Amino acid sequence: MADEDLTIAFWEGKYFAYESKCPHRKGPIFMGRLKPGACITCPSHKITFSLETGEIIHNPIPESMKDYHDSGNLRLFKVSEDKDKIIVEY
Ligand code: FES
Repeated sequence: MADEDLTIAFWEGKYFAYESKCPHRKGPIFMGRLKPGACITCPSHKITFSLETGEIIHNPIPESMKDYHDSGNLRLFKVSEDKDKIIVEY
């Protein structure tokens, strides 16, 4: 983990921490669009992941493009708050 960046987002009253590179093709998911329901859409190929579970919510890439369609889940990190600190476990 030492050479891996993570992103922290505050969305709908809650902090989320997740890997900065998309699990699909390492796109810049740190620049992704946050959506209602605690989801984020990667700007590269528009796969949407849950920030609660890391699972894929929507994958617009056709299943017929199997090798390109497949993606792992977004890796999440546990976040907690302690007074004025945000603690991320990774
Ligand atoms: S790199 Fe993120 S959806 Fe493809």
